[in-house]
Amino acid sequence: MIKNKAILITGAAGFIGGHLFETLIKENNYIVVIDNFHDYYSGKEENFKELTKNYEISKDYKLIKGDLLDKSVYNKINCDIDIIFHLAAQPGVRYSIEHAAEVTNNNIVSTVNILEYSVHHNIKKLVYASSSSVYGNPVYTPLDEEHPKNPISPYAVSKLAGEIYADLYFREYTLPVTSLRFYTVYGERGRPDMAIRKFFNLILQDKEIIVYGDGEQLRDFTYVSDIINGLILAAENDNSIGEVFNLGVGSPITVNNLIDKMYSLANRPKNVKYIEKQQGDVDITYSNTEKAKKVLSFNPKVNIDDGLRRTYEWLE
Ligand SMILES: NC(=O)c1ccc[n+]([C@@H]2O[C@H](COP(=O)([O-])OP(=O)(O)OC[C@H]3O[C@@H](n4cnc5c(N)ncnc54)[C@H](O)[C@@H]3O)[C@@H](O)[C@H]2O)c1
Repeated sequence: MIKNKAILITGAAGFIGGHLFETLIKENNYIVVIDNFHDYYSGKEENFKELTKNYEISKDYKLIKGDLLDKSVYNKINCDIDIIFHLAAQPGVRYSIEHAAEVTNNNIVSTVNILEYSVHHNIKKLVYASSSSVYGNPVYTPLDEEHPKNPISPYAVSKLAGEIYADLYFREYTLPVTSLRFYTVYGERGRPDMAIRKFFNLILQDKEIIVYGDGEQLRDFTYVSDIINGLILAAENDNSIGEVFNLGVGSPITVNNLIDKMYSLANRPKNVKYIEKQQGDVDITYSNTEKAKKVLSFNPKVNIDDGLRRTYEWLE
């Protein structure tokens, strides 16, 4: 576990960044947060307030409410940072199709700014949050890190571009950086635009669930605490430098199977409508995590039934 360090987390007002903040602040780390609290979805202010209620601003953490695209934001950090977790990005495949230029600019330029900052401030470790979406539709499964990259949305291209920039800064400036490809992350405080949170909300209100496509798409749902463990393991391990790792479970289920599990947990009558498949959605996400297991000792612990139950209990 990382203890007594100065850590910058970008995007800590968001879902995964908030969980990482919660875990690391408990270990006596001083956390600097940069987040612009983008209004893509609501609840960030309340979530962050809840996360910080037992901690003291300035002593335990610092909040820089600002945009990573704005160069003046970096002057506000004002302390020596040991480790950076770069999680800020505009997520959402569908949003990226509708706002291609905005997502491209936001995700790529903010990553380049963080890489520049890291090089100029001798950061000891930078961990970059990438995505399984970089692969596009699989040529084979499970997908290992060498699988061809055929992204099918501007979001996925932006995440891949971030990895390529990270690799450039590793090779040309010996920046100690690691990229992690997350697979569909869910759990408490999950993003309201993502299937599990969205479907539970609808089920609890006795409203119809809309499924894009026939529901037979496979998803490697990964519980957020496993992703947090992966992030920390990557930051601690020098063998991860210059490398890319899948972080998933490796046990995908279909969306139809997921919905059955959700209705049975909530004990409500099923109410599902199927509509046309959405552009940018891949058919299968299915991780091969052998590399993360071997190099990082990554070992996902929460299966889909336990993870769904925990998420449902929190939402209820
Ligand atoms: N949730 C998933 O299933 C998943 C899967 C693969 C990869 N990822 C990656 O993990 C990271 C975190 O995802 P999340 O689900 O927590 O998303 P999120 O939207 O909840 O969190 C991202 C945060 O970044 C902030 N942000 C965005 N652009 C910014 C900018 N220019 N300056 C400052 N702050 C900015 C947003 O306000 C938000 O709070 C992202 O990089 C995402 O691409 C997530």
